[in-house]
Amino acid sequence: MKIATILGTRPEIIKMAPIIDEISKRDIDQIVLHTGQHYDAEMSDNFFKDLDIRTPDYNIHVGSGTHGKQTGLMMQRIEEVLLEEKPDIVLVQGDTNAVLAGALVASKLHIPIGHVEAGLRSFDMTMPEEVNRRVADVSSLMYFVPTVESAINLLAEGVSRKNLFVTGNTVVDACFRHLELAKEKGISEQSLKELNIDEMDNILTLTMHRAENVDVKERVVNIIDALKQLDDMNIIFPIHPRTKNTLEKFGLFEELNNLEHVHIIKPLGYLDFLYLTSVSTLILTDSGGLQEEAITLDVPALTLRYNTERPETVTAGGNILVGSDKDAILENARKILDDEEFANKMRNAVNPYGQGESAKLTVDAIEDYYSKGLLNIESPEHIMDSFSRKMMTMSEDISVSEFEENENALVHMVYDGEKMVFPADDLNLNGMVFNYDKRE
Ligand code: UD1
Ligand code: UDP
Repeated sequence: MKIATILGTRPEIIKMAPIIDEISKRDIDQIVLHTGQHYDAEMSDNFFKDLDIRTPDYNIHVGSGTHGKQTGLMMQRIEEVLLEEKPDIVLVQGDTNAVLAGALVASKLHIPIGHVEAGLRSFDMTMPEEVNRRVADVSSLMYFVPTVESAINLLAEGVSRKNLFVTGNTVVDACFRHLELAKEKGISEQSLKELNIDEMDNILTLTMHRAENVDVKERVVNIIDALKQLDDMNIIFPIHPRTKNTLEKFGLFEELNNLEHVHIIKPLGYLDFLYLTSVSTLILTDSGGLQEEAITLDVPALTLRYNTERPETVTAGGNILVGSDKDAILENARKILDDEEFANKMRNAVNPYGQGESAKLTVDAIEDYYSKGLLNIESPEHIMDSFSRKMMTMSEDISVSEFEENENALVHMVYDGEKMVFPADDLNLNGMVFNYDKRE
């Protein structure tokens, strides 16, 4: 069996590292393809070193650009590699443009796709990431979902439960594997020098890079106004290159950098950053991965967004959505900083993303599919036999339990020869399922 992994940005490298490592350990043939979307050493190469994983076999160097140009270039070059390498499965992770390009190319070559961190939904179609992850989820064969909530999102979209694997999130694997080493090493001298603080105390770690925040001046101004008032904290801000560019463009970089309690530094390596977050009192972020890491490390998080595709962190009690609303940021930050009982409740939120076994579960499932000959994309002989949300003919009502036992457990509608109907009223799954007859 040959597994091809496509990655291209910082979070993909971090989250695919445990899987790449697991594949290596099992002596399975693999190739790693880097799209080159992130190319600065501190956004890419340093992570291969820190996480101690195989360096990419291919780097197709697409660099920065508009979404269309970047994705188009990726598709062209990924196709060349996949045609040459002929892997049995292509793994993509998360929701970046690499996921979109990888999923489109592989599906057109009829190579099965495994989507790691599948099923997340923000339901905000203005986010490029929401489009990317949905496209990948339409094209995948195997779905490695971090939680039951993400599995439900996919079930509601008609994905067969057979292809869903609730694995947890590999971010926990990476975190657990490296935390001890990160703590042992502490922050590197170079980073500490850059930070220009005496003690790692009263730390508020800040990251932001989401286009919907940093590309909108008004939002950045609101966030900076809130930061100004949090002057009892050491705010450490490893700045994403996108954010540095836009802050400079808006003429806001110097204003923020001149605040004595705000320390803007280059993006940190994985171990330094893990150490930093683990000793933080509070995390302020719009990052996806950091919302997950905060709850894994028992650090309260305020998320600078109005929605999240990681709602489990909020319902578990470890994360609060504050958007870019200055008052909401300040009110919630003060509650966490001044009310120990409240902060403890947030720290005690149960991590919904598993115990750090996600990579093992993922590769187990792939090996199982391969050994059973299921890593195949074939045209079904009879479309009526296909699982998923397809039509099937039924002559009599069946109960929910009979329906569930049926191979076609995800058949939501039936065709009675003339029109679409539900086989029985109780199959309406509490109104979750689209009722064709009642369409307005
Ligand atoms: C991308 C992903 C986003 C992910 C983020 C992780 C998409 C659509 N976006 O956003 O989902 O959360 O990565 O960090 O795939 N730049 C550099 N050096 C680099 C890389 C980028 O200077 O190594 C600058 C360039 O000016 C570039 C800008 O950052 O135009 C944005 O980079 P890009 O890769 O387009 O998107 P991200 O914001 O990094
Ligand atoms: N991260 C890092 N150094 C930094 C900032 C973040 O190593 O200076 C890591 C962080 O631990 C997390 C990942 O980068 O695992 C998150 O990436 P990012 O916020 O860029 O992307 P997102 O998760 O939002 O897609």
